[in-house]
Amino acid sequence: MVNGARICYYKRIKFIYCGVNMKNVCIFVFSGTGMTQYVVDKIAQQFEMLDVKVDQYPIEKTQIQQVPFNTYDLLGIAYPVHAFNAPKIVINFAKQLPADVPSNVFLISTAGENNPVNYSSSKLLIKTLREKNYHVFYDKQLYMPSNFAVQYDESTTAAYLATATAKAPQIAQEITLEAFDRREGNVLSKCMHLIGRAEWFGCIFIGKLFYADHNCNHCGLCAKSCPNQNIISGAQLHFKWHCGLCMRCLYICPQHAIQVHQPFAFIKLGEWYKNEELAVSRNTKV
Ligand SMILES: Cc1cc2nc3c(=O)[nH]c(=O)nc-3n(C[C@H](O)[C@H](O)[C@H](O)COP(=O)(O)O)c2cc1C
Repeated sequence: MVNGARICYYKRIKFIYCGVNMKNVCIFVFSGTGMTQYVVDKIAQQFEMLDVKVDQYPIEKTQIQQVPFNTYDLLGIAYPVHAFNAPKIVINFAKQLPADVPSNVFLISTAGENNPVNYSSSKLLIKTLREKNYHVFYDKQLYMPSNFAVQYDESTTAAYLATATAKAPQIAQEITLEAFDRREGNVLSKCMHLIGRAEWFGCIFIGKLFYADHNCNHCGLCAKSCPNQNIISGAQLHFKWHCGLCMRCLYICPQHAIQVHQPFAFIKLGEWYKNEELAVSRNTKV
């Protein structure tokens, strides 16, 4: 504890001392429906206020070879919790990171429920990064409205957004100081983290149950914004076998035309959140 406090103290001095030299931070973000992006934007605003320069890279659009890793002091990865894990697209991205630029990494995740069962969600991601010589010093989970199966009412939604926003200044400061903060999941969360990986296979089949109803006007927005290029738009929408179950197509469709066949119809929320700050198109940078 004393040592921890001392390290923190030195880091604080280093930070004040380095204040004249701007820190450069890069954040790789995956956000299915904009909740994670919402949180990252709030934290990024706070970084700027601390004189930290932030570059954000959407994971699904980033060519790793084009990222100037050597110009960054810190790397971040932000993701939504999917079945007690980081989504597969995030793990695959981490596997491609170069192994010759060891760096300190911070993780930001959003989950639809403040429940300790989610606490091990970063385990596989941290292992993948460790194999690449990256050191994860920070792993913060925030709670945002759920985009899957269970919809919160507007007052709960507003409360979640307010809490996440209020935490952003402290998170930005802790990351800038490179303060160590990693949570340890309990046995149940570790088991769920393992079992949850079945979702990677399950979502391929659930994705085949997606279809467009008569309201589809073939605008092609769903196909354009799918992070897995799983949708072919034409006279009829065709869903391929690469769905990541991120839910983006369901909620970004202006006609609300994309549905899910039974027995999985329940995963789509009856109505997307009315809260304007959660507009999927605004927060997913499509
Ligand atoms: C397929 C899927 C699985 C999910 N699994 C969990 C989960 O295990 N625990 C949880 O708390 N929330 C879970 N959620 C809810 C999301 O983590 C939460 O709403 C998140 O903030 C969505 O972020 P995004 O909009 O950036 O994708 C899940 C959502 C989806 C789509």
